Amino acid sequence: MSFPAALLQAANLVQTRLDRALADLRPEPVIHAMRYAVSGGKRLRGFLVLESAAVFGIPASTAISAAAAVEALHAYSLVHDDLPCMDDDDLRRGQPTVHVKWDEATAVLAGDALQTLAFELLTDPALGAAQIRLDLVLGLAKASGAEGMVLGQALDIAAETAPSPLTLDQITDLQAGKTGALIRWSAEAGAVIAGQDPTPLRNYATALGLAFQIADDILDVTGDAEKAGKRLQKDAQAGKATFVSLLGLDAARHRAKSLVDEAESHLAPYGARAQSLIDAARFVIARES
Ligand code: IPE
Ligand code: IPE
Ligand code: MG
Ligand code: MG
Ligand code: MG
Repeated sequence: MSFPAALLQAANLVQTRLDRALADLRPEPVIHAMRYAVSGGKRLRGFLVLESAAVFGIPASTAISAAAAVEALHAYSLVHDDLPCMDDDDLRRGQPTVHVKWDEATAVLAGDALQTLAFELLTDPALGAAQIRLDLVLGLAKASGAEGMVLGQALDIAAETAPSPLTLDQITDLQAGKTGALIRWSAEAGAVIAGQDPTPLRNYATALGLAFQIADDILDVTGDAEKAGKRLQKDAQAGKATFVSLLGLDAARHRAKSLVDEAESHLAPYGARAQSLIDAARFVIARES
């Protein structure tokens, strides 16, 4: 199967699982906003969950709740990232952002409830024994909170008003939290579900996560807003600390490419079983959205 077809298939499975989780809730604005916020998107993180599981022969039917969980968590992070007090964006996935379509209180609350939904999904017995589900919960909590995504987001916002530009090490640390942590949890999830050593996947995902955020930063400068489905050319004006702001476009592209090569090299132990994860790495720097 081609990579775009495989990504679409994963996206459809994730959407079906999220639809099921959000069915039968009261028809309040916050619930509508949650459904709206989890719609669309590339579903790369969900794909990484399903494909890392497939490396160990675990079927999508077993891993799907973990894929849906990380996409719910990611959707929450985007709803909050777009708020006026954060990046102040009015367009996401080609649609008005949640606080524009509803209001800020609804966006904050829909984000909160998507976050708790993620952990609820990880209790699904289909994922395996209680210890496996606990490991997934702990890993996602660490990846999302004060050691992961939230920390990275805080450093990202702080950098906007920092007296001097961040160093390469500081930007790498920021991006490892804001984007890297969730991508790493996603790629490790298959090994956790399978009860196997996650080290090769962790190393793959560390390089992949950084390449992913560099590509996002490059897209902000050179991308087509129509294709990206979000406002571009905002990072420089907002004073964001990115590889592009520090190194310029060419060096950032070069860095992203070598990170993708590095990511691929870590998959060697899995041989041909990791082909779709290799495809995902190549996609990350070639994407237009
Ligand atoms: C955008 O993530 C936010 C970042 C972490 C850079 P994606 O590019 O994965 O967004 P969707 O989920 O496909 O919309
Ligand atoms: C968002 O990073 C990262 C998270 C939501 C955790 P960005 O602010 O660069 O993402 P975009 O460019 O708005 O999608
Ligand atoms: Mg941001
Ligand atoms: Mg943003
Ligand atoms: Mg961005």
